[in-house]
Amino acid sequence: MKRTQIPSPDKLPLIESLLIEGDVRDVLPRLPDESVQCVVTSPPYWGLRDYGIAGQIGLEATLAGYINKLTDIFSDVRRVLRPDGILWLNIGDGYTSGNRGWRAPDKKNPNRAMSVRPDNPPGLKDKDLLGVPWRLAFALQADGWFLRSDVIWHKPNVTPESVKDRPTRAHEYLFMLSKNERYAYYPEAIMEEGEQGRRNRRTVWSINTAPSLGAHVASFPPELVEPCLLASTQIDDFVLDPFSGVGTVGLVARRLNRRFVGVELNPEYMHEAEKILTSGSSRHSRCDALHPANSKDENQPALIEPSGSYRVRSRRSA
Ligand SMILES: C[S@@+](CC[C@H](N)C(=O)[O-])C[C@H]1O[C@@H](n2cnc3c(N)ncnc32)[C@H](O)[C@@H]1O
Repeated sequence: MKRTQIPSPDKLPLIESLLIEGDVRDVLPRLPDESVQCVVTSPPYWGLRDYGIAGQIGLEATLAGYINKLTDIFSDVRRVLRPDGILWLNIGDGYTSGNRGWRAPDKKNPNRAMSVRPDNPPGLKDKDLLGVPWRLAFALQADGWFLRSDVIWHKPNVTPESVKDRPTRAHEYLFMLSKNERYAYYPEAIMEEGEQGRRNRRTVWSINTAPSLGAHVASFPPELVEPCLLASTQIDDFVLDPFSGVGTVGLVARRLNRRFVGVELNPEYMHEAEKILTSGSSRHSRCDALHPANSKDENQPALIEPSGSYRVRSRRSA
């Protein structure tokens, strides 16, 4: 097995599916320009969950700080996307904290407890819906993305909430954004049944939430990813998930014979993804974990080449 340090300015060659452990802000600049056909991703939502790891996105003190950070990241995603590529972005909403600084566990949904919660954003009142998805969508649009569609992910089996003064939220947004005015899109691949036969896919997708594939508490269902890949990629195309969690997008990419690049900060989730994506597959690399101590400079990604496959681990400076 050959181990090589990659000089910092060099880009990683994209040849086969790749799992990259590290902060997306360090890893993205290492991916070549216009190298992936499609991006499907679900970034951490603002103030919703503490993933308990330094460098995590989602715990910014202000909503504006969160939106700006994601807009910068997606600007680099746009560089990596091919000119005719599409970004599918799943993003959730939430309510102001009422400046409480924490959130008690919901009786019906204990995972929602948070020890730290940001203050109300300026201009918003206690109990206001934040409107994060549309704020982010407009910021991306202003940054140069073409906002082509909003899709409502309707969750028929949503976890009940203990609320009595508003309807229970049973949907999230999935935005379809393109890099240019014209792009590769295959509508026939995701047609649906209508009263008069097959028809163009509508913008409301009813898909049950699924139990997490691994240790992760916030993975999205493969059924949400599948239409995205079918509509915007062909066999062997590269699909990127810059917040890949346990690798749901990679799993669907593998089923559909697409290649996958996953970036994830949390080593535990990366380990799960590695297990899920390497079981019984020849298209994803089975690789050894690389401890940063093995690297001369632990802030530099290092590359391992076991029989022509890649695993990269990069560390952000503390
Ligand atoms: C909503 S989850 C994505 C789950 C994924 N769609 C799946 O199905 O497993 C967001 C992920 O972003 C990761 N994350 C948070 N900050 C990150 C960062 N700075 N760089 C890379 N990944 C990060 C979290 O660890 C978490 O796994």
